[in-house]
Amino acid sequence: MNLEEQVLEMIVPSAEVVASLQDKADRLEAIVIRYAAEHGIDVEVRMAGSFSKGTFLSNPDFDVFMMFPDTVPHDELERIGLKIGEDVLHGVRMFSDHPYTRGEFEGIEVDLVPCYRLESTAKLQSAVDRTPFHTQYILSHLADEQKNEVRLLKKFMKGIGAYGAEQDARGFSGYLCEILVVYYGTFRGVLEGSQKWKDNATLIIESKGPSMVSPLVVYDPVDSRRNVASAVHEDTMALFIAAAKAYLANPDMRFFFPKERSPMSKRELASKAENHGSRLLTVIFEKPNVLDDVLYSQLWKTQYALGRKLN
Ligand code: UTP
Ligand code: MN
Repeated sequence: MNLEEQVLEMIVPSAEVVASLQDKADRLEAIVIRYAAEHGIDVEVRMAGSFSKGTFLSNPDFDVFMMFPDTVPHDELERIGLKIGEDVLHGVRMFSDHPYTRGEFEGIEVDLVPCYRLESTAKLQSAVDRTPFHTQYILSHLADEQKNEVRLLKKFMKGIGAYGAEQDARGFSGYLCEILVVYYGTFRGVLEGSQKWKDNATLIIESKGPSMVSPLVVYDPVDSRRNVASAVHEDTMALFIAAAKAYLANPDMRFFFPKERSPMSKRELASKAENHGSRLLTVIFEKPNVLDDVLYSQLWKTQYALGRKLN
């Protein structure tokens, strides 16, 4: 068995686990559908995200989308969407550029997201309206045997610390990993392909959209105005390219399962600094009451600004 087959043995959820997840997903969907029917709300309930696409690792979340007709005004969609989230999930309200509810169902983290049911991506009202199109695209363009290729890529990204489009990761989202496998065919194909990426590398999956300035540009196949890789920072991209090169030269388990690093004690830090003849300065902030993404981007900016001043 080669290394990648061994990794797959460890990361692909077993048939029993998948069946139990599917049961939970079905029960949750049924509850939302019944709630909508009882309250006379016209929505179509659709599972999105990696669970619906068969590209999830262990402990997936459920991304449940409630699609409203586009005749419903936006404030109504928000009000009703959040009310369903409150009543069904007893969850907390989250705000991206669009409010949704995060909660838990039978031990699974759930995002319950209201969006519009649209004919095409030409009339998007918000970013989440694209998501059902993503699900559709991946289901029809990613072959069954490529799902595990996506899993390898996601686990690799997680292992090297490049996974996630959130501000604390500034890396590769799950959807981007799926698109890269659609484009390059396999996990190794993506690693090899990345060796040719230069700054502003551009991948056209379906059609080219407007020119964009970004370390990596991947035109969204369902909406070419959008860069699927817009969150990828040049540092994360460089990290991935370097890790891919190292892995191709010398494949190793530790790319997928890195050794846990524990923080140094105060004493170890002090003695390291002493050996270097340097001093350490620690700045501790109170966490302000802002969204994590906002907080992280403020911290990055602060770090760059401080670094410049100190240099
Ligand atoms: P998730 O962040 O849950 O990603 O977003 P995922 O694909 O399900 O991956 P994992 O396995 O949970 O980590 C759910 C969906 O929202 C859209 C994508 O369509 C994704 O499948 N999305 C999310 C984006 O388009 N861009 C993002 O930055 C985040
Ligand atoms: Mn998900």
